[in-house]
Amino acid sequence: MTQCCINPSILSADFVNLEAELQRISNADAVHVDVMDNHFVPNLTLGLPVVQRIQAVSPVPLDAHLMIADADRWAPGFADAGLASVTFHAEAAIAPIKLARELRARGAKAGMALRPGTPVEPYLDMLSELDMLLIMTVEPGFGGQAFLDVTLPKIRRARKAIDGSGIGVAIQVDGGITEDTITRAAEAGANVFVAGSAVYGAEDPASAIDRLREAGSQKSRSSAE
Ligand code: DX5
Ligand code: ZN
Repeated sequence: MTQCCINPSILSADFVNLEAELQRISNADAVHVDVMDNHFVPNLTLGLPVVQRIQAVSPVPLDAHLMIADADRWAPGFADAGLASVTFHAEAAIAPIKLARELRARGAKAGMALRPGTPVEPYLDMLSELDMLLIMTVEPGFGGQAFLDVTLPKIRRARKAIDGSGIGVAIQVDGGITEDTITRAAEAGANVFVAGSAVYGAEDPASAIDRLREAGSQKSRSSAE
């Protein structure tokens, strides 16, 4: 089993003090940056110029989650900005294989996200084109929502397919991740965890990251045995 990663989401951070907020999570594996266009999801956050500034000052690599329509057109620009990984939504991409290849060609890891109601099966044959599969565990758009246990069987099926094919695709989960739900997601096969409110809502975000990492890794290990 690959190592468990904790990627705090800055959606729950103080947007006026982003540089300081990034310093508070310097023990994270990456920072999860939620880009929303008020079209693919009913919320608006930040765009490429702000992401570029975050990239310039962040102590950890950037993991962009693009909740935007017309991903084929806009996602490559985020890879050009030097981000470690760029994740587009399958539902927003017309040519996901072409787009994943384009992201990789521009030096970013290619991620593809699925909304809770989108099945993974139609995408199993293209998993080798990806570095990461993001299985949303809430409807995308807002932080602070409750984890949807109904997504667990999908995580299990994706893990089975990935392990069976021997390709090294990470499974990221995003939405409602807490010290409690992370164990269920890890048991099902996820190994990269996004947490917004559980990290930035904590008194000490850095210790919240450590606690989540421990909870997520223990389960990851036991599920591999
Ligand atoms: C939701 C975003 C998440 C969000 C998670 O659409 O993609 O990254 O910030 O927030 P929590 O951890 O509070 O559910
Ligand atoms: Zn996200």
